[in-house]
Amino acid sequence: MTQRTVRGEDALPSLAALRRRSAPIVMITAYDYPGGRIAEQGGADVVLVGDSAANTVLGYSSTREISVDELLVLTRAVRRAVKVIPVVGDLPFGSYEGSDELAVASARRFVDEAGCDAVKLEGAGAMLPRARAIIEAGIPVIGHVGLLPQSVTTPDGYRARGREVEQALAIIADASALEEAGCAAVVVEAVPSEVGTLIAERLTVPVIGIGAGSATDGQVLVYHDLLGYGEGRKAKFVRRYAEAHELFVDAVERWAADVRSRTFPTTDEGYGIDPAALAEVRRRL
Ligand code: KIV
Repeated sequence: MTQRTVRGEDALPSLAALRRRSAPIVMITAYDYPGGRIAEQGGADVVLVGDSAANTVLGYSSTREISVDELLVLTRAVRRAVKVIPVVGDLPFGSYEGSDELAVASARRFVDEAGCDAVKLEGAGAMLPRARAIIEAGIPVIGHVGLLPQSVTTPDGYRARGREVEQALAIIADASALEEAGCAAVVVEAVPSEVGTLIAERLTVPVIGIGAGSATDGQVLVYHDLLGYGEGRKAKFVRRYAEAHELFVDAVERWAADVRSRTFPTTDEGYGIDPAALAEVRRRL
């Protein structure tokens, strides 16, 4: 089937419209059905089923460990939950770098098997032909520059990028190259706020920041980070709006105590049976 190629801001029109109105774009990750419902009911403009699921949901130590099949299960659950706003699938490590054919085949799986409106991939340079090929195949692409978690191989690799002149210039050039390749938007991660501003000033497609300052066209945060759902170190750019992990541990502790003190369940939390029926059951035993 031939698909119409939609490039640049026309590929995700709801996001481009927000940018034109200077209305900040709210992107959040989600990885399951309740998360998708919460994201949409909470008023997000777009949901990313990020490969950060590797860490947040599957307990891997790196995003490099999650497979397309694992991510597709999660993406389908989010798609069932999200009715109106776009859902973006994240091409995991190893699913697109090798060749244009591989990139298109993987992107197609996210569209055909999980109903995604777009896919995201990390990096520019050698990834530009991959982005172009996916776009030519009729699938909108969101680029990702700055800190690229799929390229991180050591624990100290999560530091900010673009603090030195040459690296800042390279990241800005990468963002522009992704726009020229036809990307519908570009995510910019963990760069000085001023570099985020320079990128947002140069691009005409939405620039969505995560640790890239306040001047980008939108912000994205990982669901588990903003909800405090999970343990571990908080990145500098994360603001927590809940402490879900503590809330849930407390709830489980209180329920466990109620079970042990036999105050759970009460009669109201169980089913009844007609006394005559019960008498007959007893008689026949
Ligand atoms: O996988 C992810 O959650 C991401 C966001 C951090 C943008 O790529």
